[in-house]
Amino acid sequence: MYAHHNCEKRGSRADEARLQGMLFMTTYVVSQTPGLSGEIEINTAKNAVLPILAASLLTKEPLSILRVPNLTDVQTLIHILRDCGAEVKEDDGTVTAFAKNPHNPSDEDSIRRMRASVLVMGPLLARTGYARVALPGGCAIGQRPIDLHVKGMQALGAEVVISSGCVTLKGKLKGGNVYLDLPSVGATENILMAATLAEGTTRIENAAKEPEISDLADCLAQMGAKITGAGTGTIWVEGVKALAGCTYQPIADRIEAGTLACAAAITKGSVLLQGARPEHMRAVLFKLQEAGVQVKESRGGLRISGRAAHPFELRTLSYPGFPTDMQAPMMTVALAIKGTSVFLETIFENRFMHAQELKRLGARIRLDNRVAVIEGGAALNGAPVTVTDLRAGAALMLAGLIAQGQTEINDPQGNIARGYADLPEKLTRLGAKVEVKH
Ligand code: UD1
Repeated sequence: MYAHHNCEKRGSRADEARLQGMLFMTTYVVSQTPGLSGEIEINTAKNAVLPILAASLLTKEPLSILRVPNLTDVQTLIHILRDCGAEVKEDDGTVTAFAKNPHNPSDEDSIRRMRASVLVMGPLLARTGYARVALPGGCAIGQRPIDLHVKGMQALGAEVVISSGCVTLKGKLKGGNVYLDLPSVGATENILMAATLAEGTTRIENAAKEPEISDLADCLAQMGAKITGAGTGTIWVEGVKALAGCTYQPIADRIEAGTLACAAAITKGSVLLQGARPEHMRAVLFKLQEAGVQVKESRGGLRISGRAAHPFELRTLSYPGFPTDMQAPMMTVALAIKGTSVFLETIFENRFMHAQELKRLGARIRLDNRVAVIEGGAALNGAPVTVTDLRAGAALMLAGLIAQGQTEINDPQGNIARGYADLPEKLTRLGAKVEVKH
């Protein structure tokens, strides 16, 4: 055990002001629009870019990431990397991070602001033998603790002290056996990154299988890491002495593609999603097909057309099950279909906040703990609504497309811009009328 550190230390005022400026109130006014049509290029996945950016702390060489989407979550992580001593350059969508001599970040507030910033913990600890991160506060969509991340680091030999809202980890990492109580995406990524530089072999069991994990592993392998089994429930990592830099293009965003597929389905439109990866979207595509939507795969991408007609049941699960991030957008599909659809949310305990807002538009939804019963087919009417979290925001924007008149979506924390680089612009290109007011 060692001395506790003061967790109240903050970044410079200028940094603080810059970050504050990124979180702005935005209002979107969406008009009812039938039949969205056209072609849209899908962005690089936010949830792949964030861990890969954090992986830049594992090497003293530059790591370049291509086609990085312009998102506030990405900007927050770039800010944290700079706070860790990394030089980060942004050039026309390419982000190059160069962490020659990384150290612990001082701006605890940024870390608290975004849960994914805990991903710097594994790389910093593995590279420098020391990491101190603020425990993320209660998040809008649930408790979201980081106990599994911390237990994983302990299994690799880290000494851990938790005090004053911070966790401090110290020590030279050695390979170990990690069993995750549940397949947490972030914990799998954090432990995987730490294990690449630990001495010896690490086994991660009950690992998350999301495509973003395999993508991170592919990038780490390109940097010289020795990993097998990523994308399955058991990952093996053989530690190496050092990793090199590389240039990497992460995968397409399956959640952005799924959200736009829902937009096409509810407006009875026909949209081609260029660059979408259907093999990463099976659960969502099968559910759309079950509802009567036409899904066609071609070399040019994924065509979504036709009309959702049959009510359905869905249960969110870890990959390859139905993704929790698609539950809110998919609720608008249930609203567009006459009959009763039933949703069960098993990943986050408080992820039906969009349902309350959808009810303001006239949606008939009954909530009981983790179950939502949706009586679809009733006409929705535009009204002012408030965004509570990122995916809830997307759902409200979609609902605006099928609600009569205009729907005013107030996003006080800029949540939509955290995860969708240009959703209003993309919907506009497909024929929707979306006005953005800052
Ligand atoms: C990631 C995604 C997020 C997605 C989620 C589930 C990123 C940046 N974010 O978040 O968009 O909604 O996966 O697919 O990739 N848990 C614990 N202890 C832990 C860690 C997690 O109990 O130490 C619980 C959480 O409270 C939650 C569940 O595990 O109930 C899943 O969380 P997790 O897979 O870790 O999600 P994130 O990595 O935060």
